[in-house]
Amino acid sequence: MRAVDLIARKRDKGKLSTAEIEWLIRAFTHGEIPDYQMAAWAMAVVLQGMDADETADLTLAMARSGAMLDLHDLVPLTGDKHSTGGVGDKTTLVLAPLVAAAGLPMAKMSGRGLGFSGGTIDKLESIPGFQVELAIDAFRRAVYDVGLVLAAQTTDLAPADKRLYALRDVTATVESIPLIAASVMSKKLAAGADCIVLDVKYGSGAFMRQPEQARQLAHMMVAIGQHAGRNVAALLSSMEQPLGNAIGNALEVREAIATLQGHGPPDLVELCLHLGTQLLLLAGLAADEPAAHAVLRQTLESGAAWHKFRQMVANQGGDLTVLDDLQRLPQAPIMLPLRAPHTGYITAIDTQVLGMAVNELGGGRMHKTDTIDPAVGLVLAAHIGDLVEAGAPLLHIHAASYAAAARVAPSLLAAYTIGDTLHIPPPLVLEVIH
Ligand code: URA
Repeated sequence: MRAVDLIARKRDKGKLSTAEIEWLIRAFTHGEIPDYQMAAWAMAVVLQGMDADETADLTLAMARSGAMLDLHDLVPLTGDKHSTGGVGDKTTLVLAPLVAAAGLPMAKMSGRGLGFSGGTIDKLESIPGFQVELAIDAFRRAVYDVGLVLAAQTTDLAPADKRLYALRDVTATVESIPLIAASVMSKKLAAGADCIVLDVKYGSGAFMRQPEQARQLAHMMVAIGQHAGRNVAALLSSMEQPLGNAIGNALEVREAIATLQGHGPPDLVELCLHLGTQLLLLAGLAADEPAAHAVLRQTLESGAAWHKFRQMVANQGGDLTVLDDLQRLPQAPIMLPLRAPHTGYITAIDTQVLGMAVNELGGGRMHKTDTIDPAVGLVLAAHIGDLVEAGAPLLHIHAASYAAAARVAPSLLAAYTIGDTLHIPPPLVLEVIH
């Protein structure tokens, strides 16, 4: 086989066979296909697309390019969750202990933040001592001992995706629904979970701006997972405004802990209950949605989910005394309110601008090697649909210096639309896809 023939076929809207896709991925992973040919192929896919068979073949080929975790010798079933990325999205920190405490062990490998979107691993690292880099043995032991593990993705999982994603990142070939679906699902399949819930976000703070694109991606990922024999469901959820109030690593950990202690923001609680419900149903641990919902509510209200989170933190070396005294989480020295310029209803928030502001404050990274300041971020004081008086705070900027806070304030203010008529925000969960 020759890479040039496969590139040409895709360029001309042709279809690749299972054997051809397997060959392409194996040869690329082993360095036998140069980056320029793989990038040309990726661009052909961006322009011409791939059908469901090709996408499933690509996903499996990438999943099988490295280790495929199997956790069945430890526990009968495990759960996993993936979000397509958003602003203030600390859902995993709440959902994973919630579902684990309700009886489904959660074994999740997560990513770091990049661009405007945060990452669970960065958030967890704001807890002093917490180890995110676990060897496979330690990951497996945590599944058995605690029934909950949140760790960084190991390098031997889906290495083909790692190489291809790095190439797509610099060749303008990320924006393809089949390539994104295969990339995400290859990692999920390799990580070994039986039950997978996908939180596919749309809106001003999501990679997919329109629900229709998000819906297509969700359908494709669910089909891939089911084709590979896993139980998969997806939610389409709104990222028209940040989730909860906090954006920024330690600020989000604080909000997640408040949620696990029973006083979280209603939207975050609602999303976690929705996602958790799907996981319990996929695992056969509840008969229907109301039953799953009731179990999860009870798990949250009894403190069982909070206890599970503490067990995980202790197991992964985190300092439990910090969880008892949240003042000891990293805190920014400056807190500056951003005030409403006039009275009116908040009708829109350009959520991506808020994510980028946290990045500029030092809370995120533009390059994979950047270091981050866990303390900085934003805390919203008002949401879409709220009536704000002139001079009332829209949010508070947590910054390393007054100058840093002042630098982001103008773009933050421009991100808010304040009008005369009430605007009802879109529903948080648009639909569930099975
Ligand atoms: N996230 C991934 O893991 N892969 C993509 O292709 C896009 C987002």
